Amino acid sequence: MNSLALAHPKIRRYAFSRQALYIGLAICAVWVFFVSMRIDVAERWSNLTKPDPHFPDTRPQPKRLPQHNVLPQMADRIPCYGPRGKLLGKSPDDDLVESEFDDRYPVPFAGSFEAVGFDMTYMSADARYGPYGLGEEKEDYKRSKVDWDNVDWGKLQNECFERNRKRFPKSADTFNDTRIEHRFTYKNATSIPEIRYWHEFESTRRTAIVIRSWRGYEYLPEDMHHIRSLIAEAGLRGGGDYQVILLVDMKDWDGEQNEYNNEIFSSPEAYQQGLKDAGVPKEFESITLLWDYRLLRDWYPLVPEHRTMWQVFQPVQLLALHYPEFDHFWQVELDMRFLGDSGKILDRLSTFARNEPRKQALERANFWHITEKIGDYQEFFRTVDKGAHGGSRAWGPVRVREILPIGPEPPMPDPRNETFRWGVGEDADALVTSFCLDPTKPTPWVFKGWIYGFKTGEETPRYYCPPAIQRASRNLLFVIHQAQVEEGLRIPSEATLPTFALWHGLKLSFPQHPVFHRESNFDAEFQSKWWRGGPAESSTGVGPDNMYAPRGLGLTFWWETQFPREIFTWWTGKNTEEDGHDVPWILHGDNGKLYAPNIILHPMKHMKWD
Ligand SMILES: *[C@@H]1O[C@H](CO)[C@@H](O)[C@H](O)[C@H]1NC(C)=O
Ligand SMILES: *[C@@H]1O[C@H](CO)[C@@H](O)[C@H](O)[C@H]1NC(C)=O
Ligand SMILES: *[C@@H]1O[C@H](CO)[C@@H](O)[C@H](O)[C@H]1NC(C)=O
Repeated sequence: MNSLALAHPKIRRYAFSRQALYIGLAICAVWVFFVSMRIDVAERWSNLTKPDPHFPDTRPQPKRLPQHNVLPQMADRIPCYGPRGKLLGKSPDDDLVESEFDDRYPVPFAGSFEAVGFDMTYMSADARYGPYGLGEEKEDYKRSKVDWDNVDWGKLQNECFERNRKRFPKSADTFNDTRIEHRFTYKNATSIPEIRYWHEFESTRRTAIVIRSWRGYEYLPEDMHHIRSLIAEAGLRGGGDYQVILLVDMKDWDGEQNEYNNEIFSSPEAYQQGLKDAGVPKEFESITLLWDYRLLRDWYPLVPEHRTMWQVFQPVQLLALHYPEFDHFWQVELDMRFLGDSGKILDRLSTFARNEPRKQALERANFWHITEKIGDYQEFFRTVDKGAHGGSRAWGPVRVREILPIGPEPPMPDPRNETFRWGVGEDADALVTSFCLDPTKPTPWVFKGWIYGFKTGEETPRYYCPPAIQRASRNLLFVIHQAQVEEGLRIPSEATLPTFALWHGLKLSFPQHPVFHRESNFDAEFQSKWWRGGPAESSTGVGPDNMYAPRGLGLTFWWETQFPREIFTWWTGKNTEEDGHDVPWILHGDNGKLYAPNIILHPMKHMKWD
């Protein structure tokens, strides 16, 4: 897969002693100066990543990450016990049942099954959610019933981690029962340092899956199936690689929304009361962490706006600060559904991101891969390369005066000489689930002007990749946290991870998972409005020139779409007049049952059917 060797962490750290760093930076400065004098064609590409004119910067420079950071392969996962008290894999009642049919698998509107490695199998609603209680109230429920109130998903995940402990580095540990022990507190009562640095921690190989919830959220059966499936498929079948955490917003915004006058961090009793008020189903209590507006205000006094649209990652930043035993933090939502095995899907996204080279990752993330316009992902990849004239906009950190980057310098100054090896085998720091856009150009983005703390204001290079269903590395969350604490630097949620990754020279990846459209035979012109010429017609090589797309009401993964609900209600047999008279074309009918392909749906507002 790759030939980049992994240096021992101690050797790496030694090599990155301050002295070596200064010498390295000085050499780099000379190089960049030399190269920029000589190469005018390359100028377009090197400009952004050239150090600021203030260089050499007299501010204390942070330690930079090693140029190569390929982690070793992990040992095979050891099976864990599921909610029925049986080993998963040896308990058919806990198993998903995937089917294959002879007909052609549906071709997505954008993205591709092959590129991200999603299996081209199908599942009926029962085969997918039956293990988690779908249909358990009916007489013909064929699986053994589970007394869900007596399931402790935190305990199951911890036991699973213990069974697998030998696979992990020593730095990895359990996520203890949060009713007994939680680490969030105000700054004046904490022993956690206000700022933490990447080099203080070893890799643990564990990823937290953070499900965002809030006080007063009504957990309907379909929400329960969704959360249980994530824990069973990622947390348990994943052999401890993932830990699902329910992160609950107590919704006590002052002056706004419903008042909640219990300051949960004022005393242990208040927190315990908060746990009761949060309304979390018993089976998830041991993985629940509460936070509130006051906690964010306390830790981020220089950032006056904490609401979701702008700072959805602040609680996740604090999670990374308080629970640094995770390498990555996935933020997932209650209004999404994995129609396939969620553990497999998350694994494949992660693997794709790990195998993606750094070169042109930003360019590829700014175009949506549409097979019918360009062919397979390889062809897409090649066309992006052509459109970028072999260069790479983000080659090392994209320089912004306010940011002292922690990411590595590229292995060679001119990206055109690099053969798509750099970064291959390394985990992505920012993993996004939709294509990105550049708000310094004309875009319909309403948050365009929402950028504070930067000398260059709205001209500051940045990208946004909605929705905020994204994965961030601990390293990335640490530097965002630091920038907000020390300088009050802030941009909206949808831009936060990809943009900070860019400024720091951290790795970005957009695994182009399959997204369908309601119309099976959309006309080519409609698709063209999303394609907008693709990389071949782009004047910059980084995204189409025209950033306006049609409304996405019929897509399966898009902020404003309504199609996911339709698919879901048909699939689960709850469709009403509103969902139309025709079965959504992507569902496969067989023997009176409907089967869904392996895709991710969002948004999927939960719905009461009674
Ligand atoms: C979990 O609890 C055990 C026993 O109290 C303790 O030894 C361990 O350090 C805790 N783990 C973490 C990650 O806090
Ligand atoms: C600690 O901080 C909180 C929140 O900022 C504040 O309400 C509380 O009064 C402080 N406690 C002390 C002892 O200073
Ligand atoms: C980079 O490639 C160009 C041609 O593409 C070549 O002229 C140049 O010598 C190469 N530089 C290095 C350092 O290999």
